[in-house]
This record gives sequence, structure tokens and C-alpha cells, in this order.
Amino acid sequence: MLPELESERLLLRPRSLGDIDAIAGMNTDPAVMKHIAAIDDPAMSPEAVAARSFSHVERGLGYWSVFAKAKPVEFLGYVGLIPDGDAAEDVQLSYRFTVASWGQGYAREAAARLLRHGFEALALSAIAITTHPLNLASLRLAERLGFSPAPMDPTILIGYPAVIATRFRLTRETWRGLNPPAA
Ligand SMILES: CC(C)(COP(=O)(O)OP(=O)(O)OC[C@H]1O[C@@H](n2cnc3c(N)ncnc32)[C@H](O)[C@@H]1OP(=O)(O)O)[C@@H](O)C(=O)NCCC(=O)NCCS
Repeated sequence: MLPELESERLLLRPRSLGDIDAIAGMNTDPAVMKHIAAIDDPAMSPEAVAARSFSHVERGLGYWSVFAKAKPVEFLGYVGLIPDGDAAEDVQLSYRFTVASWGQGYAREAAARLLRHGFEALALSAIAITTHPLNLASLRLAERLGFSPAPMDPTILIGYPAVIATRFRLTRETWRGLNPPAA
């Protein structure tokens, strides 16, 4: 079981089957999917989303649906900590929000809360981000969260048509420096 998490304005609830339709709906929005995949990509269907949603919860990894505390029934998007390739210790941060929620700092606030969970509760040593080189919002978000550019891997592709993904990395040490414990 993944824990519920909370930030100043947001509730992060472990993904449930009840969230799948909202996620699949987001996956049919061309604006959301512009730098991720074709909207008719079978990997984005409700069945495919459901099939991969809960695969790693025993390791404490998975997805959290994000809601505003002020309006806790409206799905805003999700953040996730998911395996990054095959090495067991490698984890990446994932985020996707509905267009209606963009530009209010929700993605940054939710991702920052999940990073704290990843580095403190899960004791991860580093977290990666994989994104499209033209995804300006995602690139900016990675930078604002403290991530640094990491070497590109020509085997890691993203988008439609596919291009080599831009990679970022944040170590626990760097994160601790940016987020010192409250005095
Ligand atoms: C990436 C995404 C989650 C960002 O959501 P958001 O609501 O705009 O994020 P925030 O409001 O928290 O803003 C984060 C930062 O990105 C900046 N930003 C947002 N949109 C931007 C854009 N189009 N161009 C440049 N910067 C942008 C914000 O100004 C903010 O930076 P700041 O703190 O310096 O002002 C959202 O655009 C999204 O869901 N995109 C589709 C899914 C996606 O591409 N996910 C990433 C896949 S790897």
C-alpha cells in the first residue's frame, strides 16, 4: 500500500481503479500528450494504464492522483515514482496534469512532495526524469525541482515521432542541500 501524502494545497492519494477513467481521459487530450505519445497509442488506453498502475506498489513505487484540498473531488493529474529501466535501484519521477490545472504551481507542489517522500521515506539515492527535449513546461519543472541534466541515452526514446529523450537526475545529497530540515 502506498501512503496518502499532503502538501500545502494538495492531497496526493495512491492511484485507485476509480482514477483510471480520468487518467485515460487526460491521455486523449492532444495538448497533454503533445510530447509524450500519439493519443491513439494502445499503451495509453484505460486497460493499459490499469495494467501498469499497481505493478510496483510492493516496493513503495507507483502513482498518486492529485486533488486540491479546496475541491477534493476534481482530479488534477498525477505524479509517480516508477522504475527507471531494469536496475532495481533506479527510479524516475513522472507527472501529468489536466490542461485546466496548468499554470497554478500544482505540478511543482505535488512533485516536490513526492520527491520528499522518495528521498526521506523510501531513502532513494537518486531520482531521474525523462522528458521530450521540446517539452518546455517539463524541462522548466525539472529545473525548478533542482534536477540537473544527465547524459542522454540513445536507446531511451520519447514522443511521436520518437526522439532521444532528455534526461535529468537529482541525488538525495543535492535534494537535502536544497531542502534543509526545518530548524
Ligand atoms: C509538465 C506539466 C505537468 C507542468 O504543469 P504546470 O501546471 O504548468 O506546472 P507548474 O504550474 O507547477 O509550473 C512549473 C514551472 O514550469 C513553468 N512552465 C509551465 N508551462 C510552461 C511552458 N509552456 N513553457 C515554459 N515554462 C513553463 C512554470 O512557469 C513553472 O516555472 P516557474 O516556477 O519558474 O514559474 C504540464 O505541462 C503537463 O501536464 N504537461 C503534459 C504532460 C507532460 O508533458 N508531462 C511530462 C512528461 S515527461
